[in-house]
Amino acid sequence: MQTVRELADLRAAVAMLRAGGGRVALVPTMGALHAGHLALIAAGRRAGAKVVASIFVNPLQFGADEDLSRYPRREAVDARLLAEAGCDLLWLPGVAAMYPAGFATTVSVAGVTEPFDGAARPGHFDGVATVVLKLFHQVAPDLACFGEKDWQQLQVVRRMVADLDLAIEIVGVPTEREDDGLALSSRNLYLAPDERGHAVALPRALGEAAAAIGRGEPAAAALERAHEALAAAGFAVDYCDLADAETLGAPQPDRPRRLLAAARIGTTRLIDNLPVD
Ligand code: PAF
Repeated sequence: MQTVRELADLRAAVAMLRAGGGRVALVPTMGALHAGHLALIAAGRRAGAKVVASIFVNPLQFGADEDLSRYPRREAVDARLLAEAGCDLLWLPGVAAMYPAGFATTVSVAGVTEPFDGAARPGHFDGVATVVLKLFHQVAPDLACFGEKDWQQLQVVRRMVADLDLAIEIVGVPTEREDDGLALSSRNLYLAPDERGHAVALPRALGEAAAAIGRGEPAAAALERAHEALAAAGFAVDYCDLADAETLGAPQPDRPRRLLAAARIGTTRLIDNLPVD
């Protein structure tokens, strides 16, 4: 696996990957890689593409009081995991390369960014959309793989790609989970052992609520039980609600629905989501 840190080198390396006429998949990440990220690499490879992974801890998507400075950075371990997973090229831009002095452009997607994490983390999705569009222009992939764990992010990227006529196929990859159901996340590294024990309440509460709503129970009652279960496990709940799976607006009859939650345990904020069938 080749590693590049300069845009000119990236473009030359991507041109080499394309030389045989094959497709190129982009897997954008912020590093601290786990099996969820490696599933994205596997999805790119399954699509028959050469895989380019990026690692960039994007300051634009962190709020002033968030965890930018302590976000885990472990480049050497990540590079080894990517190489073992069959990634072809690693793009490692620095902040100065990504946002040079004078950088003044923001990509803002309306609507789907407004509820949930958009409300809890003002400016977050502008930061995500801006860096993802930059990565798309830098790598010019045929497809890009995103985890369903960040369900709202996936819908924001799909909206942006549709609205801006980008010829990039967006592949959503199912969430990888620990044996007890906790969704894999780089932020799980923050959890103290007792918090890790309690964290399983999040997928359990979501699973029980999704099953109850799917059986036809009133959503309000199922969601109230989920809030209570999360509070009992020590979570402070940002949101736990049912939404239209694509627009993230109010659920609509005969359209796919998604249950989404974000909650803090100690200083760690976890998110998760499930379909409601
Ligand atoms: O999901 C992430 O890790 C980030 O939000 C992304 C898509 C790499 C943009 O910085």
